[in-house]
Amino acid sequence: MITKPKGTLDFLPEDAFKRLHVEEKLRKIAAVFNYREIRTPAFEKTELFRRGIGEETDIVSKEMYSFNDNEFTLKPEMTAPVIRSYIENSLYNISPVQKLYYISNMYRHERPQAGRYREFSQFGAEIIGSGEYTADIELIALGMFFLKEFGIKNLKIKINNIGNLTERSAFLKDLKLYLNDYTQKLSSESARRLFTNPLRILDSKDQKDIEIVKNAPVLYDYLGEENKNHFQNVLGGLKSLDIDYEIDHNLVRGLDYYTSTTFEILSENLGAQNAVLGGGRYDMLVQQLGGKPTPAIGFACGLERLTLVLQANNYIFPEPKSPDLYLITSGEKAKNKALVLAYNLRMKNVYCELDLLGRSIKSQMKEANKLNARYVVVIGEDELSKNSAKIKKMADGSEVETALNDIVNYNFN
Ligand code: HAM
Repeated sequence: MITKPKGTLDFLPEDAFKRLHVEEKLRKIAAVFNYREIRTPAFEKTELFRRGIGEETDIVSKEMYSFNDNEFTLKPEMTAPVIRSYIENSLYNISPVQKLYYISNMYRHERPQAGRYREFSQFGAEIIGSGEYTADIELIALGMFFLKEFGIKNLKIKINNIGNLTERSAFLKDLKLYLNDYTQKLSSESARRLFTNPLRILDSKDQKDIEIVKNAPVLYDYLGEENKNHFQNVLGGLKSLDIDYEIDHNLVRGLDYYTSTTFEILSENLGAQNAVLGGGRYDMLVQQLGGKPTPAIGFACGLERLTLVLQANNYIFPEPKSPDLYLITSGEKAKNKALVLAYNLRMKNVYCELDLLGRSIKSQMKEANKLNARYVVVIGEDELSKNSAKIKKMADGSEVETALNDIVNYNFN
């Protein structure tokens, strides 16, 4: 038997129905906040992610699905593709601020576990063109708003400001000096990162690293007035919206394009992979990818993780609709008549079903009950000879006899 690839998911009809509900709700909320949808290809030139996300990140160094001699890569995230498209299509000419959202599949060759897959979906939002702190507040509020709209409780926002490149390089120099005394004590991953991506040591989950980092220089102390003010303004705005947060000066995120604000929303229902949503400012990315200097901020939320949180919060999904009616027939002639009738009813938007297995009247009735059909129409040889049919309302068992030709106009409400 051929099975699905490791780290991927099948969405059987019930799951797909739930996912559709989540997506529809997200789209409605995005519209209220005035974000417009953007779609980009499933794969991009590998160079985009190398330059956009950063060579030394986990994503680029070990998690990309690349093909055609590494020329192309299935997208591991959407921010770089959105910015590529923003520049390529000169979206800045349409409006100085672009508010975009997406719902799309992403691919990362990670070690699969609960909440971590190799193919997963993200709902993400990006504000491109505004460096104002108000953009940060609006975007974080959107993230919090939709999670609350789903009735999710026990969420925690962690927020930080990781400064601009100059501020960060001064900090990194001191951080490396400090960590040099601990090279033997750091986890092997962090010891390696000391040379490749020392910033990431700050959010290591290893207990030894956490102890060492406790006394390390603090990035926030290296920020200039502008970023400190920006941060305080963002915090003030969150307070005015009654959004609680926790400052975490070690929240550096795993992608290299971040500058200034970084944030994550965590759920206590998620275990080890507890970030349901993550994002931040990336004021240098447009420029890095060949556009004019353009500040931007965004986030992405993993929909599989969102689903796990919804399940833990006993979210009540809507029930799929049941058929308005089930056509029950007996005999060849009636069967053919019902086929045409069903087609005509469907053209009038009546949700109807009929037997495709040549079953007995009794089994068809059973099937109608199983599907929870609100009406059944019985066309037997008897009815056919009179050119009529019996319409039965399942809720009370009441029956009316109608001319066959009138059924398409019957009100099945
Ligand atoms: P990220 O933190 O890599 O950021 O991913 C965002 C969210 O996607 C995570 O919080 C998680 O919910 C979900 N996610 C990530 N990897 C997996 C996985 N392997 N399986 C299941 N879910 C996963 C980004 O992708 C940035 N592009 C976010 C952003 C947008 N920053 C600015 N704009």
